[in-house]
Amino acid sequence: SISVQLDSPLHKVSPMLYGLMTEEINFSYDGGLYAEKIRNRTFSGRWHSQPAHWFLFEQGNSSGTMEIDDTTGPSEALPSSLLINAVKADSANSIGVYNEGYWGMAVHPDTTYRASFYAKTDQSNMGTVSVELVSNDTGKVLASTKSSAISADWKKYDVTLQTGKIKPGAQNHLRLTVAHSGKVWLSLVSLFPPTYKNRENGNRLDLMEKMHAMNPTFLRLPGGNYLEGDEIQDRFDWKTTIGPLVDRPTHPSPWRYQSSDGMGLLEFLEWTEDLNIEPVLAVYAGYSLKGAHINAGPFLNPFVQDALDEIEFATGGPDTKWGAKRAELGHPKPFPLHYVEIGNEDWFDRSGSYEARFAQFDKAIKAKYPGLKTIATMPLKKTKPDMQDDHYYLRAVESYKHASQYDSADRNGPKIFIGEWATREGSPTPNLNAALGDAALMTGFERNSDLILMTSYAPLFVNVNPGGMQWESDLIGYDAMSSYGSPSYYAQVLFAKYLGDTVPTSTATNLPERFFYSVTNASTKGKIYLKLVNGSSMPQAINVRIDGGKALKSEGVVETLGGTNPTETNTVTEPERIIPVKAALQNIKSTFEHTVPAYSIQILELSTN
Ligand code: AHR
Repeated sequence: SISVQLDSPLHKVSPMLYGLMTEEINFSYDGGLYAEKIRNRTFSGRWHSQPAHWFLFEQGNSSGTMEIDDTTGPSEALPSSLLINAVKADSANSIGVYNEGYWGMAVHPDTTYRASFYAKTDQSNMGTVSVELVSNDTGKVLASTKSSAISADWKKYDVTLQTGKIKPGAQNHLRLTVAHSGKVWLSLVSLFPPTYKNRENGNRLDLMEKMHAMNPTFLRLPGGNYLEGDEIQDRFDWKTTIGPLVDRPTHPSPWRYQSSDGMGLLEFLEWTEDLNIEPVLAVYAGYSLKGAHINAGPFLNPFVQDALDEIEFATGGPDTKWGAKRAELGHPKPFPLHYVEIGNEDWFDRSGSYEARFAQFDKAIKAKYPGLKTIATMPLKKTKPDMQDDHYYLRAVESYKHASQYDSADRNGPKIFIGEWATREGSPTPNLNAALGDAALMTGFERNSDLILMTSYAPLFVNVNPGGMQWESDLIGYDAMSSYGSPSYYAQVLFAKYLGDTVPTSTATNLPERFFYSVTNASTKGKIYLKLVNGSSMPQAINVRIDGGKALKSEGVVETLGGTNPTETNTVTEPERIIPVKAALQNIKSTFEHTVPAYSIQILELSTN
C-alpha cells in the first residue's frame, strides 16, 4: 500500500528537473535535427580525398570528370571544392553532379526548398547551373530552377525549388548540371526544407516537435564527448562555429565523422529559445578524450578566456565584445543562463588534473559572473562545486536497484545534475523494458528532487539507417522521412507532463518486487500525480490512501504506457506500438484500490474538489 500525507510537504520539486542533452553522435545534427539535406557539402576534413556522397551525372553524349580540388575553395575556412571538368557538354547533353543526402532526401508536395552553392568557372560563357530535385526511382524531375550565370570568381548563388503535387518520399537526390564545356568548381552546396519557426539554417520540424512534447526546461550543450573531441584541436571550439557558414571550417567529431558545424553555438542557443528553455552551457575545460590535457596554470588561461568569452556571447549586452558579436549575427537579445558545466566526464582524466583545472575555471567564472552556478563533472576533494554531474548508463535490472540510490544520499554535498542517464535495452532505440527501468529511475529523481535539480537522458537522437548509429539505445529514432519516439521517450513525456511542485510525505509498505512509485502535488491546480511503475510480469493491486488535503473528486485520469512483452518496441515503420493511452478513473476516494497491469507505467491524476 501507498499512503500520502498532503499536508506534510517534504520539499519542492526542482523546477528544472527534466531537460535535454544532445551532441553530434548518431548523426544527431548532420543527418538529423539540423535540416540541411546535403551530405558532405564542403568537402572538408576526412572527406578530402574522395567526393563521398557525390556522383557524376552525364546526360546523352556529354562527358567529363569530377574530383576534389584542394587548391581552391570559397574561403580560408573552406579551402577545397568539387571540380566538374565538363569535357563535352551542351544544352541537350548536360553534365554535373548529384548528392545522395543522408540516406536519401525527403521531398514533400507543394513545398518550397531553399538551395544555395558557391561556384566559379574558367569560362567566360559557362552560363547557369541547373538545380533539380530528382527521384532516384524514376529519374523524374520533381522541382527545378536555374542559378544566374556563373562567374570567374567564387560567389554564392541562391535559388528556390518548388514542388507540385508529387508523392512524398525520401528516394531522391539533388542534381547540379551545366550545359557548356569547361570547368566549374562547387562548394558549400546546401538544400533546406521549411524549418521549425522558419529559421534560416534551422532545425527539422518533426524532431523539434518531439522535443517540445517532452516539456523540457533546459538543454545541456554541446556535449558529451563532442565537447572534448578526441584531441585538443578537435574540441568544440565555439569561435569557429559562429558567423557565415562559409567561414566555418567544420571539425571531426569523436563519433567518427566530420561535423559540418552548421549547428554552431548561436544555433544551439536559438534552439533553446525556440523551445522556450534555457541552455546549460558546458565549456571545454582543457581535457580531450585521448588523454591530452592542459594542467592548471598559465597554459590553461586561453581556454578559461574562451569560456568567459563564450558566456559573454550567450549573455552579454551590446556593450560587450561578444554580446555585440551576437547582435551583429542577428540576435541582439541575450539568452538566459544560470548553469555552466566545466568539462565533461573528467573522471577519465587519469592524470588527476581536473580538481585544479576546475578551480581555475570556477574562480574566473565566478569573478566575472557571480550569479552563475558551476557544475563539476566528478566528485572533488577540496572544492565544493554548486553542482555535480553524475552519469548512469544501466541495464533495466540495475535501474531498478538505482531507483532508490539517492533516498539516503548526503544532503550537505553539492546538488546533483544527472546530465546523462539511460536504461540501455534495445537497439537502435530502447524497448519497453528500458522504459520501465527509466520510469523506476525517474520516480527516484522526483522523490529526491530537493537534491537532484536537473536530469537529461542521453543520447537523445539516432539516425536509424545502417551506419547511422554509434551508440545503442537512443531516445528518438528517425530516417530522412520520419521520426518516432521510443517507449522510453513516452515515459519521459508522461513524467514531465504530470509533475507537481511539491513532494508530499508518503510511505509504502509491502510493495511488490519491481514496483516503484512517486507522488507530487500541484496544490494550486488541485491535482495530485501518482506515478506507478510495475516492472513485473503480473498485474499488481495496490491500496492507495490520500490524507491531509481537500476531498478527492471521484473521477480522475489514468495514462498507461505498457505492453505484453518487455521487448516490445517502436520502430520507424511501427512508430506507435507502445504509446500512452488515456482513460478515466472512477470511484476515487481517500482510500481506494488500484491495479497496475504487468509491464506498465501508470500516471494517476487525482483532482481535489
Ligand atoms: O552519451 C554518449 C556518451 O556517453 C557521451 O558523449 C559521454 O559523455 C558519455 O560517456
